[in-house]
Amino acid sequence: MSSTWGEHIRISIFGGSHTEAIGVNMDGLPAGEAIDWEQVLAQMARRAPGQDPTATRRKEPDQPQVLCGLLDGVTTGAPLCAIIVNQNQRSKDYEGLRVRPRPSHADYTAYVKYGNHHDVRGGGHFSGRLTAPLVFAGAVARQILSRRGIQVASHVASIGEVEDTPFDPVNVPAELMERLSKAYFPVIQKDAKEKMREVIEAARMDCDSVGGTVECVVTGLPVGAGNPMFDGVENKIASLCFGIPALKGIEFGSGFAGSRRRGSENNDPFYYDENGRVKTRTNHSGGIQGGITNGMPLVFRSAFKPTASIAQEQDTVDLTTGETVKLVIKGRHDPCIVPRAAVAVEAAASVAVLELLAESGLL
Ligand SMILES: Cc1cc2nc3c(=O)[nH]c(=O)nc-3n(C[C@H](O)[C@H](O)[C@H](O)COP(=O)(O)O)c2cc1C
Repeated sequence: MSSTWGEHIRISIFGGSHTEAIGVNMDGLPAGEAIDWEQVLAQMARRAPGQDPTATRRKEPDQPQVLCGLLDGVTTGAPLCAIIVNQNQRSKDYEGLRVRPRPSHADYTAYVKYGNHHDVRGGGHFSGRLTAPLVFAGAVARQILSRRGIQVASHVASIGEVEDTPFDPVNVPAELMERLSKAYFPVIQKDAKEKMREVIEAARMDCDSVGGTVECVVTGLPVGAGNPMFDGVENKIASLCFGIPALKGIEFGSGFAGSRRRGSENNDPFYYDENGRVKTRTNHSGGIQGGITNGMPLVFRSAFKPTASIAQEQDTVDLTTGETVKLVIKGRHDPCIVPRAAVAVEAAASVAVLELLAESGLL
């Protein structure tokens, strides 16, 4: 098992849902970057559980402790390591799942791959809780990006069939991004949140769960970050985003909708703006052409499946007796993980963009 990502800005995430602590080590950060602690805590709070009926009732304050790499709030250039102590574990809820795996969770694949030595408590290293150290890394990365004029924000674009207004991909106002990047359950159209909450609550009342999508945008990028083929912007963002559990798809720009159009509808015509900069009138490319940023907003959407752990009785197998049996899952689970996952997507995008800039000599 290895949970290390990146070449220039390398992150390594460790721990499990019910271990003493979880954390992240960040290598390769530039020295001399002031990190505002209040802003870090604000990002952590957006993901923390137990603050909303749409999420798990597990309560965790998610206060990170920095072990090294920051001196007087400024990066030293040495590895930055932070831990988050786990405080609210209820491990007995998970004992039976070792041999009776939850449908669509990682219990069965982990049982086979790790010879039943894996930590099953709370989902172990597969838990959505591991997005807390990712959000810490993202909170550091986004401050370094912000100093270079790059902003990152996202919103819950859909829950079930309920949709929020999408970003205007050629013009994303800075104030909107500022508002969204501070919000728990960020939405553009304010009444969308209530409709989405109703869908989540209806699923919860049915002992069920519901999925959704997150749309993320990065503005202020220079032209020229990324590469063709295997080290492109899409590759880097997708590989980090797929580290977020339950994320099952990503599309950039017009994505799958673009596949149903003609070139004349999907092409992004170029023009010079009033400052003589090359821009595009539309942004179906999502700010990426040939794996390289073109200076337009980078736009992508992530699809999250409905939470696997539902309270309804389901079929599973007993790996010790060889029988098909009924399973009723105990424990505290999110009826919908999407509102809490939005900040994790922003974090993944922030770290990936920092890596892309470092690799292209643009940091
Ligand atoms: C913030 C967050 C919270 C999550 N909470 C739960 C949960 O309460 N119950 C659950 O079954 N899955 C939860 N998940 C998803 C599982 O961790 C994930 O589905 C599982 O590890 C299997 O991985 P896969 O869905 O990527 O295949 C959560 C994911 C995230 C991002």
